[in-house]
Amino acid sequence: MAGNGSVLGLVGSPNRDGRTYRMVTAALEGASRAGAHVEVVQMADHVVEACKDCLPWVCQTNRKCSHPDAAFDYLSSKLLHCGAVVLGTPIYWWDTTGMVKYLILKMFRVYARSAPLAGLPAVGIGIAGGTGNGLVSGLRPVYHFFQMLQMRALEPLPVTRFNWSAALVRAGELGATLANMAGSMHPFAGVEERLLWYDALPYLSLNRAGERRLLADLTTAALPEDADPAISRGLAQADALAARGQHLQALQEITRAYEAGVKVFEESQG
Ligand SMILES: Cc1cc2nc3c(=O)[nH]c(=O)nc-3n(C[C@H](O)[C@H](O)[C@H](O)COP(=O)(O)O)c2cc1C
Repeated sequence: MAGNGSVLGLVGSPNRDGRTYRMVTAALEGASRAGAHVEVVQMADHVVEACKDCLPWVCQTNRKCSHPDAAFDYLSSKLLHCGAVVLGTPIYWWDTTGMVKYLILKMFRVYARSAPLAGLPAVGIGIAGGTGNGLVSGLRPVYHFFQMLQMRALEPLPVTRFNWSAALVRAGELGATLANMAGSMHPFAGVEERLLWYDALPYLSLNRAGERRLLADLTTAALPEDADPAISRGLAQADALAARGQHLQALQEITRAYEAGVKVFEESQG
């Protein structure tokens, strides 16, 4: 059903020109440079209503929500007719925004069984623009959406203030890859291949401590050259503690390195 070759960018933020918009736009610019038609949609203009979970479950068969919802009609039509999708969400409380979640839940209800998006190339971007917490956990619902709809998702892009510049570049590269895949579907041979594909994607399998370690890593990588080397050494000490099974002490060390890194990062930003 999908596949006009264009790359669709969904901005799942109430801020039209915020960080999510900038990151989704960077991906679309990469797609455009690679020759694709691109389109950006502000989800704030099309906020889907909550699925009413009505019974009998007719929408799975007739593929139409029984309740008038112009926003869902609009966004689902965009998804059904694009060649690839970039879905960007700000991270709110270590999760996606409500507008993203409402779209996902209604898409599940109407389309998960018939899977008209099977094989659609997709990228999810999560922007944890505050503390950076939730940079992975907020992406999981997006990748769960892609997986349940049987889409062919590329690696997720977790974004914080600390890896912002590198993430802009990576967004453009991922957009270019989507452009090269758009126009034809890339379905999985079966459920097993799909599950293994998603298991192999980076970041998503990190546990909570691993996610915090990633955040600390991004933070310390962003430090100016003259930053106290003890901050980075703290992460090495944390790894040594973890290797000895001292997980609580390791995580405490990671938190110390992260907090010291944020302080220096913010001072360096003026
Ligand atoms: C309700 C709310 C919850 C937030 N929770 C988090 C969070 O858990 N982690 C984080 O790093 N930033 C958090 N933030 C900050 C946003 O991720 C940040 O402002 C982001 O840049 C928003 O994207 P936007 O510029 O597209 O609006 C939160 C912001 C709001 C408004």
